[in-house]
Amino acid sequence: MNASSPKSGRQEIEIVVIGLGNIGRRFLQILDHKRDSLRTRYGLAFKLIGAADSRGAAIAQAGLDLATVVRLKREGRSVAEYPACGHPAMSAQRMLDQVQADVLCEASPVNLESGEPGLSCMRAAIHKGMHVVTANKGPLVLAYAELAALAREKGVRLRFCGTVAGGLPAINLGQRDLAGATIERIEAVPNLTTSFILERMTHGSTYELALVEAQAQGCAEADPSLDVQGWDAANKLVILANSVLGVPATLQDVNVQGITALTPADLAKAQAQGKVIKLVATAVRRNSAAVRQDSYTLTVAPTPLPADHPLAQLNGQQMGIVYYTDIYGTISAAILEKEPLPSAAALLRDILSIYMDTPIAPETGALSVSHQELF
Ligand SMILES: NC(=O)c1ccc[n+]([C@@H]2O[C@H](COP(=O)([O-])OP(=O)(O)OC[C@H]3O[C@@H](n4cnc5c(N)ncnc54)[C@H](OP(=O)(O)O)[C@@H]3O)[C@@H](O)[C@H]2O)c1
Repeated sequence: MNASSPKSGRQEIEIVVIGLGNIGRRFLQILDHKRDSLRTRYGLAFKLIGAADSRGAAIAQAGLDLATVVRLKREGRSVAEYPACGHPAMSAQRMLDQVQADVLCEASPVNLESGEPGLSCMRAAIHKGMHVVTANKGPLVLAYAELAALAREKGVRLRFCGTVAGGLPAINLGQRDLAGATIERIEAVPNLTTSFILERMTHGSTYELALVEAQAQGCAEADPSLDVQGWDAANKLVILANSVLGVPATLQDVNVQGITALTPADLAKAQAQGKVIKLVATAVRRNSAAVRQDSYTLTVAPTPLPADHPLAQLNGQQMGIVYYTDIYGTISAAILEKEPLPSAAALLRDILSIYMDTPIAPETGALSVSHQELF
């Protein structure tokens, strides 16, 4: 644990992973494929000592073989089938109780009612002195203040840059790169499903047909209600508000309107006026000298944007964010995310940001691993 070898200058980081689906499995693939470059470039080696999915867990203090875990999950099996180390029906929480690692990597499904199993696992890990990196919005939307305070108290880091707009470093940009600024306004298009549907509707499809197409392409859930009713974007806005703007917002503070009532005629009318309708999550600073702490009006709504607006130019596979600030001007960023690799990579970014104080310049060719090589 946190063992650094003075001889090699190498630090071994022991991790546990909860949730081995699109995100968790790809994250392990990235660690496996980038093993050498992570060691050479950052002096870091990763050891997976525990992993859990919905059917059980596997534990090995000596380290689980990443490729074996990835293969099991690719075959639709449980990590509990891992030879000699598998524990069928062991819960993620029980697995956590039995290990002591450096970092919990949490990628279980979003649960907006209880936050479970992610919330209990994050609490338990922080209590055990582990850092937490997560792609899971649920625990943050429900308990950001509690988790952040607990992490501070225990002297560990809580990182979650994959929870807002996939692999886009939207949170890092706001938290780190706007240092010292007053953020006057945030506008974000953080939900791929609605972007895809609206793009199709702009080309004449009905809402219903566009939704079916989104589901067929795997960019909409079987139950897409959280996305199309705007709640997924609202969750992301709540995380931005808490973590970047420093306001203790909850979902109740967001005025939410989804895209279900939009018709192709609405989109065509906007287009005729030189505008593009996107589902935009917006935080606007309230201009009140009397208020000591900044306060923000939070909204999610279909919004007609001028065609030259940075978010109007995003296609249906892109997400983006624009920060309007007092001292850094207006900064926008966008990501093209055709599949969840960038979201999974955000877990690696989070871990590296915990262990690396200073970015190290890339060695030529050191990190060039193509999608083909990974998949
Ligand atoms: N997919 C994306 O593009 C994306 C992007 C950003 C953030 N996220 C977030 O990342 C998280 C994971 O998403 P995903 O797409 O990887 O989901 P997924 O493909 O549905 O995978 C979920 C994983 O969690 C496991 N799981 C379910 N219930 C569990 C439990 N009670 N205890 C332990 N493991 C449990 C599942 O086990 P089985 O393998 O046994 O089914 C599966 O391995 C979610 O919170 C999601 O919102 C996803």
